[in-house]
Amino acid sequence: MKKEAKIRPFWYSDVWLFPKLITIITTLDEQGRVNAAPYSHIMQYDVMAKNPRMIVGFRQDSHTFKNICATGEFVVNCPSAEYLDDMMETARFYPEGVNELERTRFTPIPSHKVKPPSIQECPQIAECTVDEIIRLPKSSGIVIANIEALVFDEELIDMPREERIRAMNLPIGLGDESRMDYFHAVNYEITSHRLGETPDGFKGGEVKLDLTWAEDALQTLMSIPPGVRQMVAEQTENFAREHGDTEVSLQRFQQLAEEAGMSEDFFDRFRERKARRA
Ligand SMILES: Cc1cc2nc3c(=O)[nH]c(=O)nc-3n(C[C@H](O)[C@H](O)[C@H](O)COP(=O)(O)O)c2cc1C
Repeated sequence: MKKEAKIRPFWYSDVWLFPKLITIITTLDEQGRVNAAPYSHIMQYDVMAKNPRMIVGFRQDSHTFKNICATGEFVVNCPSAEYLDDMMETARFYPEGVNELERTRFTPIPSHKVKPPSIQECPQIAECTVDEIIRLPKSSGIVIANIEALVFDEELIDMPREERIRAMNLPIGLGDESRMDYFHAVNYEITSHRLGETPDGFKGGEVKLDLTWAEDALQTLMSIPPGVRQMVAEQTENFAREHGDTEVSLQRFQQLAEEAGMSEDFFDRFRERKARRA
């Protein structure tokens, strides 16, 4: 049985399980004093390289949000799991102007492109400036930020993905209980699942079918390279219509292939290529 849960303030943390990136955002106030606090409401916004941007959500009366509004700059630092207690220390509600980093093992270092410091112990860092600020009534202050630099521990940049995941050891935030106990996944088991498409596979999603396709015929179509899948689909549907079919069967698909001089071997070539990639 499924049951609907009540939506309360902070639903995203209280009831909806939302595994998140753990970050510590460093800012400067107007007097140049350092502030640091954890933030997890963060996501990519513009994925293209021309104007890469992130979207970050804040409590509007937080020191971090106020500093960002005042100075237009901040740094997103991702700590590894060994520093979770230090990250939690930066979450405490110290008075304005108190540098939380001084109460932790974190070391401030100069950033490349912005004035707020970066954190030495964080393997992954994004230096940001403000693009746009949206103040939702009685809710988050949303900052759309330009990414001025993505900075890593040097050896991580070209590391293969699995090795990199282990080396960075980033914790996964799993929300809190009553704003007191914060849950994290650390040293997690990593699994990898193959998409089974080439990088141009998205073109396959643009294919439009007019007829119903039998599952085996559809799977054979999926084994055709994405760039020519639309053309093959159209030709096959036309061929099926000419034969009075309302559904494309594998048999009809293979008949067309044979008539066009494409034997079973022709399809096998693609199947083999796919299997080799798997
Ligand atoms: C793991 C973790 C993630 C958090 N994520 C957010 C967040 O995304 N947005 C937010 O407004 N507060 C978040 N908080 C709460 C702030 O860190 C907390 O209110 C902090 O005291 C704000 O500090 P500041 O006033 O110096 O910015 C988070 C706290 C923790 C421990």
